[in-house]
Amino acid sequence: MTKLFIKTNRTLSAVLSKYKYSTAAKSIALVDIKGKEFVSDDYTNITPKIISYLGKNLHMQKNNPLSIVRQRIVNYFYSSFTQRGAPAFSIYDNLSPIVTTKQNFDDLLIPSNHPSRAKSDCYYINRGNLLRAHMTAHQSELLRSGLDNFLMIGDVYRRDEIDSTHFPVFHQVDGVRSQRKEELFPGQPDLEIFEPNYDKKNPHTFVNSIKDPMKQSCHTLEATKLMETQLKTHLISLTQVLFGESIKYRWVEEYFPFTHPSWELEIFYDNKWMEILGCGIVRNEILVNAGPTNSIAYAFGLGLERLAMALYKIPDIRLMWSTDSGFLTQFQNIDLNESVTYKPVSSYPQCINDMSFWLPENLTIDTFVSNDFYDLVRDIGGDIIEQVRLKDKFVHPKTKKHSLCYSIVYRHLERTLTQAEVNEVHKVIEKAVVDTFGVAMR
Ligand code: PHE
Repeated sequence: MTKLFIKTNRTLSAVLSKYKYSTAAKSIALVDIKGKEFVSDDYTNITPKIISYLGKNLHMQKNNPLSIVRQRIVNYFYSSFTQRGAPAFSIYDNLSPIVTTKQNFDDLLIPSNHPSRAKSDCYYINRGNLLRAHMTAHQSELLRSGLDNFLMIGDVYRRDEIDSTHFPVFHQVDGVRSQRKEELFPGQPDLEIFEPNYDKKNPHTFVNSIKDPMKQSCHTLEATKLMETQLKTHLISLTQVLFGESIKYRWVEEYFPFTHPSWELEIFYDNKWMEILGCGIVRNEILVNAGPTNSIAYAFGLGLERLAMALYKIPDIRLMWSTDSGFLTQFQNIDLNESVTYKPVSSYPQCINDMSFWLPENLTIDTFVSNDFYDLVRDIGGDIIEQVRLKDKFVHPKTKKHSLCYSIVYRHLERTLTQAEVNEVHKVIEKAVVDTFGVAMR
């Protein structure tokens, strides 16, 4: 059994991430992810650069600001919800980020044509497996295992543009709180969670509708409103614990396929509204498919990077990945609730190089997938890529050829880059872009 590293210049996914496993009879392309092998297919778009982030677990690294925010959130739930003196929430912070499309989408009622499933937005290992795009991917399996109150904490992966606030890997804290009639309405036996026509013994016979913006058709208005109040009260208290009593916030109505009704919480930070979490009442179908037929649940998902950047005034998301002691010592042994303001260690200069090219005949400025370009740039340039932005696009009036121009901003977080070394990297990227997309540099 031999494994060969194959390099082709046909597609981005094939560039660096495939190994060839061959026997006399057949040849299958395999993707190796941390010692586990997967058969690749036309959906494979995960790259070695992205694979290298797996297992870093920044949210568990002592002194990392993400880990400090995680602990503060966990402490809030531990102290706010107890059952006979013990914490009511269980914490899952070590779940594998490799999930199935069933976990990430189907179990959560995400329709098969939903844009969040697009190859251009997710890191697919193959058609059936991907790196989780949100921590909600674990909700159904944990409900199925019998849990009712739990937090899921970990790294999530989404293909995205590159700038100071976007990185393809970030961290989320997701949670679920379920309640049965006796817990939700203690001492009020007349109040019900479910409408009279919902039969707990035959829940599959009930067609649950989300047409009414106030509630799911299976739930009573009283149960929905009480859950909404509890959900919002707790998430606001948590926000005030983190940012102080005077933090300005607002609720915005939202849509998520897995909750109804749904909301987003925004805080006023740095002179603009910033979304920090999504939440809502869990769709009853999800609970029923996972087991419980007699409870109502709310769920929420918070992004740790945004919270940490706002709390500690960290200007660039890539700093979370810094192993530089100048960064980490600023968060060393601090009291969890201490207010810390990040002081830039030093800011080294940027180098900006442009890249303009003509697209081949089979591509147009509308069908060219920018995220494919960003991934290739990041794969080759690594962490010195600070930003990639589309600078210009145009169609030649005579030849009708399509042209794109991107600016690539290079900056090293820990030292000055020389223009000569940036030019070297830029040249390698140009070559890869030509080989991968069949473009012609201008
Ligand atoms: N999974 C959602 C996201 O990543 C957040 C969310 C979680 C919303 C749970 C509602 C309920 O944006």
